[in-house]
Amino acid sequence: MTDRNQAKESPEKKAAGIYAASLVQSGDAVGLGTGSTVAYTIKELGRRVREEELDIVGVVTSYQSEAIAIEAGVPLTTLAQTPKLTIAIDGADQFDENLFAIKGGGAAHTREKIVSMSADRFVVVSDPAKKAKTLSTFVPIEVMPFGKELVMKSLKAIGGDPVLRAAVKKDGPVITDNGNFVIDCSFGEIKNPAELAAKLSQIPGVVEHGIFMNVDEVIIGNADGSIEVIKK
Ligand code: A5P
Repeated sequence: MTDRNQAKESPEKKAAGIYAASLVQSGDAVGLGTGSTVAYTIKELGRRVREEELDIVGVVTSYQSEAIAIEAGVPLTTLAQTPKLTIAIDGADQFDENLFAIKGGGAAHTREKIVSMSADRFVVVSDPAKKAKTLSTFVPIEVMPFGKELVMKSLKAIGGDPVLRAAVKKDGPVITDNGNFVIDCSFGEIKNPAELAAKLSQIPGVVEHGIFMNVDEVIIGNADGSIEVIKK
């Protein structure tokens, strides 16, 4: 499978991803996020499972994390079987000092939000470039195709600059793992993420937006392998 992060080795992401795996203990039910940073975590968890150091079950957030987990040997379950998770680990596109985060660069944020909200502890793994004083990157918004026009109009009305995400190696829009479209919407500097999140949730046709307010801690990896942990 090719993906947006293919062939991009990152020592920062690797340091954060592998460290996060050390937070997982035997008996844990683990939410497995999506993206290139948490891929390091999933592979490290798989290594520990294969070496019989760890006895865990994982719940995936995408076809991508499912494929990585299966290849790594992480036993999987579902939220139907295991609705309460001990810990969820995932990447982010940007986060601020209050640990508000924007996610969904890989169009997986709806399942990521469900899985992270099902966990007692939500840990984000990141490289240093994603830390921001004020959130300002575009907000990915998963929408039902039927509601696209109303959502676009509503986003413009609240000051957004919405763009339907185009697929790569497929003509037309990105289709999520849930069969929906993604609109990437810029709002400039987001001074009040909670207020914007509430406005986005009120628009009919919005399945889920990429503003996350449930991050407990962020692990930042550096190129020299060192780690910084920011807790709420
Ligand atoms: C997936 O939709 C996203 O939320 C990712 O978790 C986020 O884009 C981080 O990805 P990387 O770890 O690849 O930077």
